[in-house]
Amino acid sequence: MAAAATILELDPSHERAGRVIDDIVRLEKRIFPKHESLARSFHDELKRRNTGLIYSTSGVGDDEEVAGYAMYTCATSLCASITKLAVKESCRRQGLGEALLQAAVEKCRRRRVQRVSLHVDPARTAAVALYRKAGFQVDATIEGYYSAQRNAYRMYMDL
Ligand SMILES: CC(C)(COP(=O)(O)OP(=O)(O)OC[C@H]1O[C@@H](n2cnc3c(N)ncnc32)[C@H](O)[C@@H]1OP(=O)(O)O)[C@@H](O)C(=O)NCCC(=O)NCCS
Repeated sequence: MAAAATILELDPSHERAGRVIDDIVRLEKRIFPKHESLARSFHDELKRRNTGLIYSTSGVGDDEEVAGYAMYTCATSLCASITKLAVKESCRRQGLGEALLQAAVEKCRRRRVQRVSLHVDPARTAAVALYRKAGFQVDATIEGYYSAQRNAYRMYMDL
């Protein structure tokens, strides 16, 4: 599926954007705990300058729905962040997460950003393995980043 997956960038003004965002909000609520979820702030996040959303769908016609998504923000001309990455449970382990991450990094590269960073809970072993495979390194452990009991790895990759 990885090679065949079509990766799209969301155009918030396109007529299908509402449906795509609704799908993503549903996935957000299912996959992430409330304090880590962007479900309630997705629309606001997307209005931010220099923020982009990449996604892929599965199914056709009425059955078409978002299979995975990645959000990135080019905060400065030097540094960008991957702020979200998730793949629907039934579509995992087929290369889609890697394809979405690579597409997001490529968007940052085209903006001539020098470093891409992200935060991830070390307990998310699948995600940590994916980021390492893509070339990210752990920079620091940030205690209490997500909540009192949940730390984060800060990871980065220089482009
Ligand atoms: C992390 C996530 C996006 C991976 O998506 P995916 O489509 O299953 O990943 P891929 O199939 O592209 O896998 C690419 C690499 O990631 C790693 N990986 C993915 N799933 C893994 C797992 N369950 N265990 C160990 N490594 C895993 C592997 O290195 C894999 O490479 P390989 O296939 O050569 O072994 C997905 O598991 C997910 O949505 N998890 C919940 C949300 C999350 O944790 N997001 C990150 C928040 S920072």
